Amino acid sequence: MSSPLNIVILAAGKGTRMKSDLPKVLHTLAGTPLVEHVLAAADQLEPDRICIVYGHGGERLPAAVKRPDITWALQEPQLGTGHAVQQAVPHLAEGGVTLILYGDVPLTRPETLGQLVMIAREGAIALLTVQMANPTGYGRIVRNAQGQVVRIVEHKDAGSEELAIDEVNTGILALETRKLTAWLDRLTNANAQAEYYLTDIIGMATSEGERVIPCHPAGEWEVLGVNSRHQMAELERYYQRHLAEALMTRGVSLADPARLDIRGHLECGRDVHIDINCIFEGQVLLGDGVKVGAHCVLRDVEVGPGVEIKPFCHLESARIGARAVIGPYARLRPGTALDDEVHVGNFVELKNAQVGFNSKINHLSYVGDATVGRKVNVGAGTITCNYDGANKHRTIIEDEAFIGSDTQLVAPVTVGRGATLGAGTTLTKDAPADQLTLSRAKQMTVPGWKRPTKNSDKVTK
Ligand code: UD1
Ligand code: CA
Repeated sequence: MSSPLNIVILAAGKGTRMKSDLPKVLHTLAGTPLVEHVLAAADQLEPDRICIVYGHGGERLPAAVKRPDITWALQEPQLGTGHAVQQAVPHLAEGGVTLILYGDVPLTRPETLGQLVMIAREGAIALLTVQMANPTGYGRIVRNAQGQVVRIVEHKDAGSEELAIDEVNTGILALETRKLTAWLDRLTNANAQAEYYLTDIIGMATSEGERVIPCHPAGEWEVLGVNSRHQMAELERYYQRHLAEALMTRGVSLADPARLDIRGHLECGRDVHIDINCIFEGQVLLGDGVKVGAHCVLRDVEVGPGVEIKPFCHLESARIGARAVIGPYARLRPGTALDDEVHVGNFVELKNAQVGFNSKINHLSYVGDATVGRKVNVGAGTITCNYDGANKHRTIIEDEAFIGSDTQLVAPVTVGRGATLGAGTTLTKDAPADQLTLSRAKQMTVPGWKRPTKNSDKVTK
């Protein structure tokens, strides 16, 4: 058994530059709040305690993050990062090590954090630093002649020599909890911002002969924080690019890796092809050989092998069987389940509908709360009238039925196996199997009828 691991996530700051009513860490990256990305990385380390320091935005943050296993430390007012960590101290497991993260730095890899924790467990202070082309605004890492880290100086407190340093503090560090609490007690706010700087503990540590071991991320993106909408958008594009690269590495064809958005989890079989501007949300599973056309939105759907989804489809909480053909312009709403080889064509909306093998609903239809059997043909413009203004009712269409165009099925109603409905039927009673049922006003022709003419045309000279 190793000693306890505490993780403190700082999230009390104002986020002024976001110009938002929403606490900054609740803004989403790839559809998930920033703080949830940080928590996901934290969870990978299997900590004993996670404590989030919150303040600005009040209870909205704890209310939004529904995690009974984490503790919340209120920091009010916000007097700096050192003061923030002080608020977390009463919530920490004694002994062991503490890792400090920022709630607005979403992409740090668990591997990087694990390395920091390992160093801290060996008794040193692990500090994540990075070289930056433009270090403006960041705390600078001051090293001695031997190249050892001596202290951190904040940008606003730095002299011109220090400002020239391009190695910056990411803010992420790990150290023994016992040492952390002792040094926090000695922080003062005698600096340019009159804040309690967490970074001052580095100077205290080295003056007591403690070792500070700097670690570096795999790339700058791992430590990029979000302070503005611009940075948010930049990080989003960066992250999406990264997800696209990973998909291609796994054998997925992307028409353009820069025009793909994954906001959740996308799992693909072999030889999947995805055209431009598709959005995948929640859990999406695409089977072998699936083709997704341009401009589709798929949320929580399972797509069987060999399915073709043509452009401009919107699919939500649906299951699609093998070799089905969907769209263009189809909308599958929650509860839709299509068996193998079903065809759903353009301007068709399905909701809570189960459709059997090889049935076709190809044009301009609404089929909701319906059970459709095998090899059924639903003609253009067919509508299930499932709602009577108060309750929803089911329509049942049995195997091999043929529904003529422009038919309304007033539920609850059943179309028997092999039945045919004439075009334009308003079906209010069950249609028996194997027979033709239709409701239709008789066609007539009025002999001698003349088309009216405009009054103005009647004026004579
Ligand atoms: C801090 C570091 C700086 C580092 C930079 C990296 C200090 C003194 N400085 O600077 O060395 O280069 O991060 O981005 O630590 N927060 C609180 N309570 C507070 C103040 C901040 O919870 O009272 C939180 C913020 O919500 C944020 C994080 O701490 O998540 C960092 O705060 P920020 O104001 O961005 O830090 P800087 O002063 O820019
Ligand atoms: Ca910052």
